[in-house]
This record gives sequence, C-alpha cells and structure tokens, in this order.
Amino acid sequence: MAGRTEAILARKGEIMKRALGMDYAQFERSPIAFDYEAMMAAHGYSLDEIIRIQLAGGVGKTPLLELRNLTDLIRSYAEPGHGARLFVKDEAANMAGSFKDRRASISIHAAKEKGYAGVIAATSGNYGAAVSSQAARASLNCIIVQEAFDSRHVGQPEIIEKSRICEAFGAEVVQLTVGPELFSHMLELLDETGYLAASLYSAFGISGIESLGWELAEEMTALTGAPPTHVVVTHAGGGNTTGTARGLRRAGATSTQVVSASVDLSGLHMASDTDFNRKSFTTGHTGFGVPFATWPDRADVPRNAARALRYMDRYLTVTQGEVFYVTEAMAKLEGLERGPSGNTAMAAAMSLARDLPRDATVVVQETEYTGAGKHHWAQLNFARANGVEVRAGDPTESVPGKSIVIPERPEQIRAKDFDLGKMRRSYVRNALAHAGEGYAPTSEDIEFLAADTHSDAESVEAIIAALKEA
Ligand SMILES: Cc1ncc(COP(=O)(O)O)c(C=O)c1O
Repeated sequence: MAGRTEAILARKGEIMKRALGMDYAQFERSPIAFDYEAMMAAHGYSLDEIIRIQLAGGVGKTPLLELRNLTDLIRSYAEPGHGARLFVKDEAANMAGSFKDRRASISIHAAKEKGYAGVIAATSGNYGAAVSSQAARASLNCIIVQEAFDSRHVGQPEIIEKSRICEAFGAEVVQLTVGPELFSHMLELLDETGYLAASLYSAFGISGIESLGWELAEEMTALTGAPPTHVVVTHAGGGNTTGTARGLRRAGATSTQVVSASVDLSGLHMASDTDFNRKSFTTGHTGFGVPFATWPDRADVPRNAARALRYMDRYLTVTQGEVFYVTEAMAKLEGLERGPSGNTAMAAAMSLARDLPRDATVVVQETEYTGAGKHHWAQLNFARANGVEVRAGDPTESVPGKSIVIPERPEQIRAKDFDLGKMRRSYVRNALAHAGEGYAPTSEDIEFLAADTHSDAESVEAIIAALKEA
C-alpha cells in the first residue's frame, strides 16, 4: 500500500496538470510571488458570462431579505443610537442549497467546454452536493471523495447527510476515514478516469463566487441607495471571503468592510481521529479558517485562488452555542430555518450590528439549507452522544470539544476579534519557510506579500526583520 501511495504521489505534477485544465507554471514569478490576477483571469470568462452560465444552471439571483425583527431585537439592548440594519442573502435558494453552487457551476461549465467526461471533487461539505447537482444538469459523470468517518466508522450526521445528497444527484461517493490518504486516493481516481479536478480552490470556482458579492452590492444599492457598510462572511477555506470581496470590488463597493467569521474550535485538531467527531460544525470554523488564511497554498492546487487574508478587514469568532441560539432566533423571529454555516456569520453579525450606528447596514451574504443531519437538533444529539456537555448559560464558558453553552439571552452573543496582525506574521513566516532556507525576498516578493496580507511593504519588511531576529 505504501509503495502504491508513493508511486502515485511521485506522479502528482503530471496528473494534476492534466486534471486541472490550466497550467499553473505560467503564473510563477519567484519562490514566493506569482501573478494572482493573471491566474484569476486565465479562464477567460467575464463576470457577465459567469452570471449567464449560473442563471442557466439555476444558480444566483437569490433573495436579499431585510431582517427587521432581528434588527429590532438588537436595538432593544444596544446602546442608544446603535443597532445597524441587518440583511441576509438567502443562498439556500440555489439548486443544491448553498453558495457552493456558484463555485461548482463554473468548474462544471469549463469541464463540459473542455471535453472532460466527468469531474472529481474532494469534499465532505456542501460543495459535494453543488458539484453533483451541476454535473447532473450538464450530463457529466461525478465522483465525490469524502473524509466521512473516524476509525470507529462513526460519521458526523452532517457529512453522512451529504453522502446521501450527492448520491441522490447521481454521483459516486467514495467515503474514507479521516487521514492523509484523501489526496493520494483522489490522484488515483483522476489518473484512472481522466476527469477534471473540480477543486474548491481553482480560479474557476472562486470566480464563480464573485457574482455573489456583485449581486448583493447592486441589490443593496437599489434597496438603500448605497452598497452595505459591512458584509459578514462565514470563513473556512477562504473561497467565500475571497470571491465575495472580489465581487464587491467589481461592483465598486470599495468602502464596504469585509468581516470574516468562524466558529471558535481552538484546541481541536482537524486531522485527529479523536477530535474529528467532537466538533459540531463541519465547516466555517477556525480549524480550517486559520490555517488556510495563514497558508492558502496548502490546497490541492499549485496556487490557491482563495486567498482570504488579502480581503479580510476583520476576523470575528463566535462559539458553537451562539450559532445554535441564532439558528433558533432566525427561525422563530424571521421564519427562516437555515443551516449552521450561514448562521455562523449571522451570530457574528448580531454582535457587530449591536456596536454600529443605526444607519449602518450589515449583510450576511449567505444562508445554507438545513434538514436531516445538518439540523441543529441532530448536531446537538450527536454532540451529547460523543460526550460533549450541552447546556444553557454564559457562552464564554464553552470549551470546544468539551462543552456547548447556549446563551440564555441575545445580548450574551459577543463575537471576538481574532488578531489579524498575528495572522499576517504567520502568513509571512509560512511563505519564507516554503521559499527555502536562505532565500532573500526581492522587492517583487515584498509587494506580493503586502497584497496577500492586505497590508503594505513597510509592515511586511518589519515582520521579516522581526522573524530574522527571533
Ligand atoms: C454553506 C457554507 N458556507 C461557508 C463555507 C465556508 O467557505 P470557505 O471554505 O470558502 O471559506 C462553506 C464551506 O465549506 C459552506 O459550505
């Protein structure tokens, strides 16, 4: 088995070059820098074309809803004059129930256009459903590779629900236990089938999300006379933040603050067999959010199109209990029963809106569908069954993997700012480590690092000097 894995990994470059439908080598500039915008434009689709492709696939033009009852609730405990207007983009209205349809639609369109017979994606989340659904509409074969179980063969209800949905759309689902063999298995399948790798992190996918940022800026301008002051984005691998922010910029919404949000799962290790089922959120948590923001090129493509740190103005974290509370509040006050990912941003947005003036406008840019294993009751039962304490109280007392504390009152929802300075330092350290010992960054590298960390050359140089001293 080890020999087989080594043999396939040795052929990684050759297999991925054919499977990705794009030669990434042409964008490389140095061991650190690459031409990001050239990579993003290489597929040749304009935003208008992307929107057209998506509408034909049943994707996009989702409702933008004002959440008046939640806004009133926030204003009831905010300081006088505070409590921003809250809006949500109901992305659950997409074909397979989330914004991931935008991401999948462009990869599937490219696969069809380039003559691939099918697509393969490695994902245990909504992206699998999105790829399967879009592939069905395009009459392409589809294989979804999931990390589904721990070594006891127990699976998160949300992931198991995802297997069912992908199969319902006609995809073949390969379920693996948590561990490093996911990538080598996917390589073998790509090699055997000759299908397109519909990576979550390709330029196709991320360009597909730009329509979401663009759409919401246009809709808010029509509704309120201006783009939103703040957009809150649930963040994991970084595509959601990246694509949305790029779309906002394309719509001219350059002063809109982009606020990423994740569930705080600090202390739990995503690749750990024992921690795997001790988290009640399979995405939108810091376990992906921090490592991907601080080193995006850890992905299954040579250069990740999702580069969240480039676009984040703030990064907020919330607790699992706060998200469960907000899930029920949304259903009971707004008639919207939706899944955990969008509600992560909603929990952060409730905290943010409380501190902003009343004329500020906060858009949560997605909802996701809920039901079966995704539902909060299924998640809470699973947490209890895995030894996690579930109780009402002060959410600051919660400990990821050990307890979920559901707030008793909405004013207990308080998001925390994650230190972006720390993330920038960590990103630069990772970039230097990957460039190799003794590599001296050029001025082009410094410029690239400044853009990739949403800072400036001076700050990057200061980080590099401090790292040298350490
Ligand atoms: C519904 C939903 N929202 C948000 C996210 C996070 O997006 P990203 O991984 O691009 O940061 C995911 C991804 O797993 C998702 O499925």
